[in-house]
Amino acid sequence: MLEEKSNFTSAGWPLLKIGKHTPVYPLVQGGMGVRISASGLAGAVAKAGGVGTIASVGLGFSSEHYTGKNYFEANKLALADEIAAARMAAPDGIIAVNCMVALTDYESMVRTAAEKGAQVIISGAGLPMQLPEYTKDFPDVALVPIVSSVKAARLIIKKWDKLYSRLPDAIVVEAPGMAGGHLGARTEDVFSSEMTLEKVVPELVEFLAAELKVDIPVIAAGGIWSREDAMRAFEMGAGGVQMGTRFVCTFECDAPEAFKQMYLEATSDDIILVQSPVGLPGRAIRNAFSEKLAAGPPEGHHCTINCLRHCSLRTDKTGFCIAKALTAAHKGDIEGGLIFCGSNAARCKEIVHVRDVIEDLFGQSKKTSAMERRAAISAV
Ligand SMILES: Cc1cc2nc3c(=O)[nH]c(=O)nc-3n(C[C@H](O)[C@H](O)[C@H](O)COP(=O)(O)O)c2cc1C
Repeated sequence: MLEEKSNFTSAGWPLLKIGKHTPVYPLVQGGMGVRISASGLAGAVAKAGGVGTIASVGLGFSSEHYTGKNYFEANKLALADEIAAARMAAPDGIIAVNCMVALTDYESMVRTAAEKGAQVIISGAGLPMQLPEYTKDFPDVALVPIVSSVKAARLIIKKWDKLYSRLPDAIVVEAPGMAGGHLGARTEDVFSSEMTLEKVVPELVEFLAAELKVDIPVIAAGGIWSREDAMRAFEMGAGGVQMGTRFVCTFECDAPEAFKQMYLEATSDDIILVQSPVGLPGRAIRNAFSEKLAAGPPEGHHCTINCLRHCSLRTDKTGFCIAKALTAAHKGDIEGGLIFCGSNAARCKEIVHVRDVIEDLFGQSKKTSAMERRAAISAV
């Protein structure tokens, strides 16, 4: 962790302070479920100087704790295991847990994350209105909502301030036009010019600084791949970037080899939108499962665990079991499972180490000097 007092690191990057936690680089690895970012990836990113995020969704299913009947209990135990393993890999790093509001056991996963030592909780797939309540005994745990619009950020801030006298420690802005997994927009709005990073990041930065007069860093997510992408986000006023897809094709990523291979072989035509039973679109790689889905509800899908607060499979028998589909993908069934990805999946050409990704983004060996970077970012 850094001691520096200014708003920049000595290398000229924005100093990303998330509550009491400051990673070496202004980089958050996005939570990726089910078990695409568990302790392997999160621990490696945290060790390399970013924020490493464990996706808490559905961890129990494929854990040793699952008996077939104790899904929610197994989720808690498996999350505790993953946090402990990530901490072991990165004793001084910053470990976050991603918790999805849409899940039935949202509160229990948030409480487990805080109790077991996560330093940051990042929460989206719905508005995390009660997050401060669930973590009130852990004031050092930084709270970071994920939004796709300024309107959503306003609602969260208003409610947190009124009910809990607390503000977010950072806000992730996720652009549905590029990001992976569930997208925070209706299908018809996914590619709307109103929901791009270029539109939302500067507007939110302005709202926080000029209107609210608070210093809350905005973290840009969705389509960040290169150093140039990160620079562009910083020039928009972002204090950090969150990256998911690029981390999938790393040796340390917890996805099976076959899943990573799907990314390596994908072309941009293979990247599609699917309708999730949660009521949101998701981005995924075309495969036998998505083709079947396009033709109608797949066979053999019944709700057995009640994992979602609102699930179209449970309420009106349409759609599919997303827990089953994502767990199948994690187990390597790449034709029978759902392969979530961001629009940059087609750019993955090789498997590399996490430290190489971070070096490529923030390493010293590249063209611009620290002074030039600071100047470029400050000029805006
Ligand atoms: C395979 C995959 C699974 C994901 N799962 C989750 C999740 O469980 N929770 C969440 O909030 N976001 C999830 N995301 C979104 C990422 O955390 C990240 O914010 C987003 O993908 C950033 O865009 P990028 O992939 O273009 O870098 C997922 C993304 C991918 C690619």
